[in-house]
Amino acid sequence: MPTPLLALSLAELPETAWDLLARSLKRRKDPLRTPVLATVGGDGRPQARHVVLRGADPQAGTLVAYTDARSQKVDALLQHPWAELCFFTPRHGLQLRAVGDARVLRGEERCRQAWAKTPGGSRRSYLTEDAPGTPLACAGDGLPKGYDPDSPEQLARGQELFAIVELSVERIDWLVLGSEHRRAEIRRDDEPRASWTATWLVP
Ligand SMILES: Cc1cc2nc3c(=O)[nH]c(=O)nc-3n(C[C@H](O)[C@H](O)[C@H](O)COP(=O)(O)O)c2cc1C
Repeated sequence: MPTPLLALSLAELPETAWDLLARSLKRRKDPLRTPVLATVGGDGRPQARHVVLRGADPQAGTLVAYTDARSQKVDALLQHPWAELCFFTPRHGLQLRAVGDARVLRGEERCRQAWAKTPGGSRRSYLTEDAPGTPLACAGDGLPKGYDPDSPEQLARGQELFAIVELSVERIDWLVLGSEHRRAEIRRDDEPRASWTATWLVP
């Protein structure tokens, strides 16, 4: 039986936070797998939307999502790389807010490998004819006529449009709401970079 989150010591928080995030990658129904990615648009206004968490590496301190390189979030991140991924799991009453610099990778070997592993059904998200958010004359999914995700043409196109968003986490705000409330800041140390130090905060 794992230690209830309210009973955790300060020293246990960093590893627990990263473990919960890493474990969600393999659990399709885990709410931690679909955080909200918040960015700042070129107009200075906030933007928030759910994404699927695709990677969590405590050593590198990175969290990863995939997206269409033409999407608004990519534009926003190219102008303002500072971003936040906000997670909530009702089972644990836990909110995690991971803040850091996000970079967008496109056309690199890593993108090619991730694209090759993306199942046909998911590829459609990256293969719309026009950029996501473009107005349509009538309701539709925006895919090209006669769309076949496995055709060499669509595979090559997807490879070009597929982008990886990698958040280099600087700090994580930990908040447990339960019979009592607990809040802490989990901050990445300057040296060594793979270590994290937590501090209790007023919830
Ligand atoms: C549960 C859920 C998961 C989603 N996962 C992703 C994702 O991994 N990547 C993505 O680009 N959009 C994802 N979306 C769609 C985005 O929330 C958003 O509508 C879309 O990316 C356009 O956002 P933008 O115009 O702000 O870039 C998801 C939506 C939901 C509801």
